[in-house]
Amino acid sequence: MKKTVLSLSVLALTALLGSAYAAEISIACGAVGDELKFCQTGAAAWAKKTGNTVKVVQSPNLTNDRLGLYQQSLAAKSSDIDVYQLDVVWPGLLGQHFIDLKPFFTKEEIAAHFPRIISNNTIGNKLVAIPWFTDAGLLYYRTDLLKKYGITAAPKTWEELQAAALKVQDGERKAGNAGFQGFVFQGKNYEGLTCDALEWVFSYGGGTIVDPSGKVTINNPKAVAALKAAASWVKNISPEGVTTYGEEDARGIFQAGNAAFMRNWPYAWSLGQKDGSKVQGMIGVVPLPKGGADGQNAATLGGWQLGVSKYSKNQKIAADLVKYLAGPEEQKRRAIEGSYNPTIASLYKDADILKAAPFFGSLYDVFTNAVARPSSPTKGKYNQVSNAFASSVHDVLTGKNTAETALSSLATQLERIKGRRWQ
Ligand code: GLC
Repeated sequence: MKKTVLSLSVLALTALLGSAYAAEISIACGAVGDELKFCQTGAAAWAKKTGNTVKVVQSPNLTNDRLGLYQQSLAAKSSDIDVYQLDVVWPGLLGQHFIDLKPFFTKEEIAAHFPRIISNNTIGNKLVAIPWFTDAGLLYYRTDLLKKYGITAAPKTWEELQAAALKVQDGERKAGNAGFQGFVFQGKNYEGLTCDALEWVFSYGGGTIVDPSGKVTINNPKAVAALKAAASWVKNISPEGVTTYGEEDARGIFQAGNAAFMRNWPYAWSLGQKDGSKVQGMIGVVPLPKGGADGQNAATLGGWQLGVSKYSKNQKIAADLVKYLAGPEEQKRRAIEGSYNPTIASLYKDADILKAAPFFGSLYDVFTNAVARPSSPTKGKYNQVSNAFASSVHDVLTGKNTAETALSSLATQLERIKGRRWQ
């Protein structure tokens, strides 16, 4: 009898201790496409495994709105959110609010991720965020329509894209689809436009706005040529409304079968291939075009990381959630079910992943050579730089300004933001 009482109290004690160690972790996740659903299912799997609970907090679609919200909550040192999903351009801006994740990972676990992203996420000596998925801009096209109009290969230059888009657009409009568009992209004045426009500028040989040494380089004839080309698409192969489109607007049109070409991130593949999509089985994916015959392919490097807030009251448990979500098993699931690009290099050799998203293999170089926005050289001022760049480009797209004037005044503005040096 005594023995039973004793073992019962041991049991009760264990249960008590267990619950004392279980925590509710809150994570702020993105909601573009099915992103939120993937975050929820991943977090729930971890919760089930560990006995903790997770609260998934939805953050706005547009990366700029997310940044504003995060900055408020971090500046207030709020402990409400333990884990944040961080854009690849934010470690320099927000790094001081996040703990060093190195102690929670082995050297091998860290080395399994693309070294470039690890170094992007390392501020001083701190690994402020662990890579979760990477992004690169891609050109999506309708394989059926290219065939229908006798276009034998996907365009390799922007000029070829313009010609092909116009041909398909004319044909489809004549065939009765009056709203059909040649090319949709992200033309709204926000971070997404910075990504698209960097691709145009870099592909024409016009550099990266600010070079790695911190020099403002945007005011150059190649960048001007790139923006002139882009402005000529609007109201020609792209609708006037493209200057209000984010990722999801462009995807909506393409996936409804109303565009020949689309610039978007890899997530659009899986959604476009799902049942219910009008373009299922008709999507081709290739690198974005070069700027002219002597130009180069350019895809902007995007992607998201997970960081644990310094103000979290459960840092250790939060770090465990991060470790699970960014780990190989979960990255594989997300790659197969949502075409989110892994940041763990070895997963690009995984047969199941390559079957679900074949371009992860064929476009591997696009992902590893993607062009970084100048967030490292411009440090804490990147957001101002990006806002100024996107606004100037937007003015050119909407015809408010010429490419020449916009870029020359942008350069002056960027010098002013820089001051004596970037910091
Ligand atoms: C994608 C990219 C991110 C970028 C954003 C712009 O989410 O991964 O890096 O800032 O698009 O809209």
